[in-house]
Amino acid sequence: SGEKLEFKDRVVVVTGAGGGLGKVYALEYAKRGAKVVVNDLGGSLGGSGGSTRAADVVVEEIKKNGGVAVANYDSVNEHGEKIIQTAIDNFGRIDVLINNAGILRDVSFAKMSAKEFGSVVDVHLNGGYKLCKAAWPHMLSQKFGRIINTASPAGLYGNFGQANYSAAKLGLVGMAETLAKEGYKYNIRVNAIAPLARSRMTENVLPPHILKQLGPEKIVPLVLFLTHESTQVTNSIFELAAGFYGQIRWERSSGQIFNPNPETFTPEAILNKWESITDFRDKSFNKVQHPVQLSDYNDLITKAKKLPAQNDQGSVKIES
Ligand code: NAI
Repeated sequence: SGEKLEFKDRVVVVTGAGGGLGKVYALEYAKRGAKVVVNDLGGSLGGSGGSTRAADVVVEEIKKNGGVAVANYDSVNEHGEKIIQTAIDNFGRIDVLINNAGILRDVSFAKMSAKEFGSVVDVHLNGGYKLCKAAWPHMLSQKFGRIINTASPAGLYGNFGQANYSAAKLGLVGMAETLAKEGYKYNIRVNAIAPLARSRMTENVLPPHILKQLGPEKIVPLVLFLTHESTQVTNSIFELAAGFYGQIRWERSSGQIFNPNPETFTPEAILNKWESITDFRDKSFNKVQHPVQLSDYNDLITKAKKLPAQNDQGSVKIES
C-alpha cells in the first residue's frame, strides 16, 4: 500500500478518445505522467461523418492540466497503423494500447444488411486488429506492452439487435486471449473488459436512474491497473459497471464420460445423458473446470480414457 501507480513517460494510445470512456482514460493517463495519443475521427454514433474537434478538445484539456498529448484523427479500421505511427513519431515508443473506438448499428438480425453487419465488425474487430498489428513489433522488441480490448456484455451474452456488435466484441476477446499467449514471454499483457457506462452509446437505451449510476470514470481504475507496468494479469476478461468490478471466465461442466464402445456414440446416447453432459456440479469422478488454454483438452482425453471403473454411468443404454 502507499504505492502510486504512475505512468511517467509511458506512451499510451487510446482509440476513440474524443468522448465517452476513451476520453476519461486519456485524461487519467495524462494526469499520471503518460504521453497520450488521443485518437478519434469524430464521427456519429453510427460511424458517419468526421471532425478533428473531438480529439482536439481532449488534447487541449490535457495540455491545460500540464499533461502531454497529441491528437490523431485516423479511422482505426482504415489507417490503424498511422495511429501507432503517431505515437512513434511524437514520443518514440508505444507502451499501452487501449482498443476502445466503436460504433453501433443496432437492428434485428432479420433486417440487418451485410453493410450494417460488416461496418460494425470492421470498426471494432478489424480496427482492433490493425492497432495491435502495428503496435506488436514495437512491444516485442522493447519486451514490454499492455493492451486492453474493449468487449461488451453484449458480446459475452448476446443482445437483441446487436448480432453485428456482439460478434465483433467476442472476436476481440478471442484475439486478446491469443495475443496474451503469444506475447507472454515478451512481457506483453493483454486483457479484455466488458464495461457498462453512461455515454452516447447508452444514453438513449437505459433509463435515467440507471444512467445516473454509470459514470464512465468508474471504469477508469481497472483499465489503468491492468495496464500498469507492475501488473502481470493477462488473458482475462473483466466485467464492470457503476463501481462493481468482477472477472468472467470459461467454465466446463463436469460432463459425461462415454464407453469407448462405438455403439455408445449415438445421438440417442447424448439424449439419454444430456443432464450429465450439462451438469455444472462438481463430481467426485470429474471436476468442473475453468480452461484457459487449448492444452487443457489433454485433460479431457485423459478423463475419457479413465473408464469405467468408478463411472458406471459411462455405460449408456440405448433406447430405441
Ligand atoms: P462513444 O461513442 O462515446 O465512444 C466511441 C468513440 O469512438 C467515439 O468518440 C467515436 O468518434 C470513436 N470512433 C468511432 N469509430 C471510430 C473509428 N473508425 N476510428 C476512430 N475512432 C472512432 O462510446 P463509449 O460508450 O465511450 O464506447 C467506448 C467503447 O466501449 C466502445 O468500444 C464500446 O463499444 C464499448 N462499450 C461501451 C459500453 C457502454 O456502456 N458505454 C458497453 C460495452 C462496451
